[in-house]
Amino acid sequence: MGSAKNTFRAVKGMNDVLPAAKENFLNPAVWDFISEKATSTLEGYGYRQVRLPVVEETRLFARGIGEGTDIVGKEMYTFEDRGGRSLTLRPEGTAGATRAYVEHQFHRNNPLQRWWYMGPMYRAERPQKGRYRQFYQIGAELFGTDSPAADAEMLLMLWDWTQAMGLSDVSLKVNTLGDKESRAAYRAALTEHLAPHREELCESCASRLDINPLRTLDCKRPSCREIVADAPDIMTCLTESATTHFNRVCEFLEAARIPYDRERRLVRGLDYYTGTIFEFTTGSLGTQDAILGGGRYDEMVEELGGTSTPAIGFAAGVERLALLLEGKIDGERGPDLYVIPMENLEREAFELAARLRKSSSLRVEVDVAGGKVKQQFRRADRACARFALVLGETELAAGRGQLKELGSGESTEISLESTAIVDHLLQ
Ligand code: HAM
Repeated sequence: MGSAKNTFRAVKGMNDVLPAAKENFLNPAVWDFISEKATSTLEGYGYRQVRLPVVEETRLFARGIGEGTDIVGKEMYTFEDRGGRSLTLRPEGTAGATRAYVEHQFHRNNPLQRWWYMGPMYRAERPQKGRYRQFYQIGAELFGTDSPAADAEMLLMLWDWTQAMGLSDVSLKVNTLGDKESRAAYRAALTEHLAPHREELCESCASRLDINPLRTLDCKRPSCREIVADAPDIMTCLTESATTHFNRVCEFLEAARIPYDRERRLVRGLDYYTGTIFEFTTGSLGTQDAILGGGRYDEMVEELGGTSTPAIGFAAGVERLALLLEGKIDGERGPDLYVIPMENLEREAFELAARLRKSSSLRVEVDVAGGKVKQQFRRADRACARFALVLGETELAAGRGQLKELGSGESTEISLESTAIVDHLLQ
């Protein structure tokens, strides 16, 4: 390869999120918008933020997510640490959250927990628009109840969040995987339907047939789609209590007037799901159309060594949300005020800036690079500041200065009292 030895690029599939990014979806202002709306919505429903390690033991994911999944089978970043332990960069957050829940004995002492998190996840998938090898998720897990009201509440919360972000082109798809008994019956019915077509299925569906035949339902290949088109519906295999649970969830959604579709081919790429599952998709992102997904995983706490505790959760892809918001959020959020000190007056500028920051929430940047006023104004422009204020001996002596609005170029004479400046800027 011709790449120079001393130049570096980010690892393939991993993004820099930087101010003035060419693509607006990689701009921190868009990410702030998404996480602010998540914080206010999720905390508004009683969720508390948790921060969990990015690295876990490899066997946690093999056990929690399932050996037969694409994630565990071929997408994990696994390495041996110096002590010879096999560790993995987390491909998702649910296994780690459940590990923490059990490790810290919540299942015994205080089972009802509402947790949310935001952070990077790692999957060695083939990168394309909306699919990356390091991507961020905002997710939540509700432990300790198997009530259909909990499922419905999570969907109401997610609906609120998408509305708070102003997303219009999203649709909610829900399905159920039923309880153990329903799933076993459905697996048998589906295998019976698919077995005669084994030769016609694509390679991965043919191998799924033995490990997890439900996964054939979401294969995108036209030939597989044709075969599953007339496969039996899981509804025909649900036990009475699984049917009642799912119907209750749908009733809640209807009462709250949340539009949804029951999607009988919706299955999920992780093995831990039981009962209600869901996805929010969009028509605006091409093939990577799932902006968030989740569902019940009532068996994982026990699987990871705790006493049987039901749980439900979701995770959303931040890059995908940011792609949807591209162009809708003002990417540049510069300082409200850029203070330009004349030579040797930085200390006075710092004092003024400190007073302003203390008495308001204004963002105040002081030019510390010096040089000619013209250069300083150019930097104020590049920083996307709203206003600039020159601070020289004359201004300090008079206690008054010229506040220049950079967009219009208009100047206003103003007292250097912090209250006067704050009032003017917040007008
Ligand atoms: P997931 O469906 O694998 O579920 O991922 C959730 C979301 O993360 C997806 O809908 C998508 O927006 C985003 N995502 C996944 N892979 C990528 C990627 N390679 N690049 C960009 N975005 C991606 C989970 O991870 C479960 N832990 C959700 C959950 C929580 N279920 C119960 N609790």
